[in-house]
Amino acid sequence: MKRLLFLLTTLMGLSCSHDAAEATAQTPTGHLAKTLVVYYSYTGDCRDIVTELTRHIEADVLEIQPAEKGLKYEANGYALGTQLLNAIKANPDDAASYPAIDPVPTSLDGYRNIVIVTPLWWSQMAALMQTYLFHHGPQMADKTIALVVSSASSGISGVVADCKRLVPEATWAGDALWINNQNRSRMGTLVTDWLQTQHFQTSQESLDMYITIDRQTQRATLADNPATQALVEKLQDGPLTLTLSASGGFEIWGPLGFSLPTHDQHVTAQPGDIVLYNGSNICLFYGSNSWSYTPLGKIADLSESELPTFLKAGETHIRVTLSLTSDATALRGIPADQPRDTFYTLGGRRTEHPANGVFIKSGKKVIR
Ligand SMILES: Cc1cc2nc3c(=O)[nH]c(=O)nc-3n(C[C@H](O)[C@H](O)[C@H](O)COP(=O)(O)O)c2cc1C
Repeated sequence: MKRLLFLLTTLMGLSCSHDAAEATAQTPTGHLAKTLVVYYSYTGDCRDIVTELTRHIEADVLEIQPAEKGLKYEANGYALGTQLLNAIKANPDDAASYPAIDPVPTSLDGYRNIVIVTPLWWSQMAALMQTYLFHHGPQMADKTIALVVSSASSGISGVVADCKRLVPEATWAGDALWINNQNRSRMGTLVTDWLQTQHFQTSQESLDMYITIDRQTQRATLADNPATQALVEKLQDGPLTLTLSASGGFEIWGPLGFSLPTHDQHVTAQPGDIVLYNGSNICLFYGSNSWSYTPLGKIADLSESELPTFLKAGETHIRVTLSLTSDATALRGIPADQPRDTFYTLGGRRTEHPANGVFIKSGKKVIR
């Protein structure tokens, strides 16, 4: 761990402000799954970017350090920097072409998002970061990758190409963020805006929805896809009450009143499944049916035999409320003039000492 900086940041949640208690939980997809920010910085710009990033996302941070200390990459007209990059360019598949770095943890197990923050050198990825990715990029095949590049002024397409060469199998969270000497003073805004555009993997527990029928509320776990992300965004404006009807002896279904992004697959829906049908209808299953649907999630905690009763199988005009809170009625009952420092659980229970999690404060969802 000599030169290795491994910091565990404590702030929670994409798009939360530094003051977590005041932050509104606006991310459409909930908390980030376990995330690693890996960076190299020669003159400190990328370190500043990482400091800003980790004010907004919960992540472990790994700094790459050269094995050989005190080198001046910019000396003699950037001679050494150029030499390192030329060696890589000449033999990109040979480990010997890459400058040595200090030891880093070998395993990336558990990380689902990786944010790479690197300087640009001669329109390419800085050589030391290339070393790290040459050795660890192949382990990132199942991860979502985001890239931030810092340069003085040069465009970053060459760095993006290097990243794609070194991490060929990964899924990209979105477009890379380019910080340069022109926009560096607006880094805070650029970072927060960019984070909103990135499709990071989220932790499953934050993707819950609650279904209330006739005063009984059940939790549903949501799939992580564009349809559920759009649905969660709608529900962040408040609970949604629908009128659904039983059909076919296996489901209750009806219009949402708006469309969601479709990703239809031919599936056999099982009891408890929640799917999107034809882009704008929701179906809740107590039986089974094969059709082309976009999966939305699954009703949790109910057995197959309990589902027909909860879903009022056989009835028409079933009032169904979808919500991000476990008790939408209780939330509405929170007094509007609640004291500024009072927190409520999502179930509407007042709490003086909120632990980690999502709470209601001053009428807004906040993350602690
Ligand atoms: C060896 C070397 C080569 C560089 N080449 C370029 C370049 O071609 N274009 C550019 O805009 N900036 C170039 N830079 C400047 C860096 O990309 C820029 O200062 C960056 O913000 C540095 O990040 P850091 O402070 O985290 O090391 C170079 C810097 C070094 C050390």
